[in-house]
Amino acid sequence: MSTHSSHPLSTAARHLSAVDSLTTPIVCTATYTFASSDELRDHFEGRVRRHEYGRYGNPTVRAAEERLAALDGAGDAALFGSGMAAITSALFALSKKGDHVVITADGYRRTRSFVTNLLARFGVEHTVVAAGDAGAVAAAIDARTRVVLAESPTNPYLRVLDLPALAEAKKKFPRAKILIDATFATPENQKPLAQGADLVIHSCTKYLGGHNDLLAGVVSGDAGLVSVVREARDVLGGVLDPHAAYLLLRGLKTLSLRVARQNASALELARWLESQRAVERVYYPGLASHPDHDVAARLMSGFGGVVSFVLRADLEGTARALDQCRLAILAPSLGGVETLIEQPAIMSYYGLAPEERAALGIRDGLVRLSVGVEDVEEIRADLARVIEEVRRGL
Ligand SMILES: Cc1ncc(COP(=O)(O)O)c(C=O)c1O
Repeated sequence: MSTHSSHPLSTAARHLSAVDSLTTPIVCTATYTFASSDELRDHFEGRVRRHEYGRYGNPTVRAAEERLAALDGAGDAALFGSGMAAITSALFALSKKGDHVVITADGYRRTRSFVTNLLARFGVEHTVVAAGDAGAVAAAIDARTRVVLAESPTNPYLRVLDLPALAEAKKKFPRAKILIDATFATPENQKPLAQGADLVIHSCTKYLGGHNDLLAGVVSGDAGLVSVVREARDVLGGVLDPHAAYLLLRGLKTLSLRVARQNASALELARWLESQRAVERVYYPGLASHPDHDVAARLMSGFGGVVSFVLRADLEGTARALDQCRLAILAPSLGGVETLIEQPAIMSYYGLAPEERAALGIRDGLVRLSVGVEDVEEIRADLARVIEEVRRGL
């Protein structure tokens, strides 16, 4: 094991490299052994740092947590078995009966449903405000507020929150914590902790894993606050499997390469889509036409790999158009190396009545494109097939 202080492997990874493995070993165990009762006492008295039981920690998972904390510029990070496990555990950890949570309207449907249905059953009240409007978010905070949870950029309209403005306005309520779900941004494009967030959450299922082969979620931030969330995880049990932690560590090795390419291709495709008559509107924070372009340009170093757009077509016409794709794959999720395309009205919002979808702002012709790492010209050629199908119906 190297003792060099600037060793490129994290502390946890170095502990694991006793066999000189370049890659982080997968420690596949549910429990850890103690040589004697004295060793057990040393552990519980905090005289040694070691693992005890799989739900409380795993060396492979710990190596990934250290890597993620470094990427977010955080004191610590806690990994979970999915993005939703991270979000729900953080909210359970930070709120109790009689408290109040503020969330934004545009956002992942399951996050909203957790706050408005499940958390509400435990007596935690909530206010839902328009996404991207820092003033409205700040105005919804009161003395009972413990958590302000906002995605930035949001799913699917890519609204970007003026985080420094919100953090400034929130100073009057120091007990309220700002949680930013930065799944769409990734630590490559934005560092919310340096801009006023108390905790950052990512669904690592998306860009951080990057290959559509794992589910994971992470909460990072100040070590004290992360330990409160970790304690909730240890009880709720939404832990990450060490095999998935290994895949996540592997994915992270190419994060900056993938995101740089996805940023560049998405911007190019967004501009091209905006020039097409069959496209009514494009939502991409890198375009001057996006309502939050100025905020995004100030806070983000890249605008991400997701482009949302509305086709001049009805529900069936849009579905037919997407069926013309040969490269982009019809699938939920985003952020992986493969380009994925979906029509939210019949994917994430399937089963909702047209009026219910309309109330949530989900248009029939809305398309969400997650740009992969393929040749941008090949993706454009695929989108041209979608556009051609819409044009035929105009
Ligand atoms: C912004 C955002 N946050 C959280 C989640 C949930 O993550 P997971 O699917 O890893 O539970 C998603 C899933 O699509 C998402 O888009």
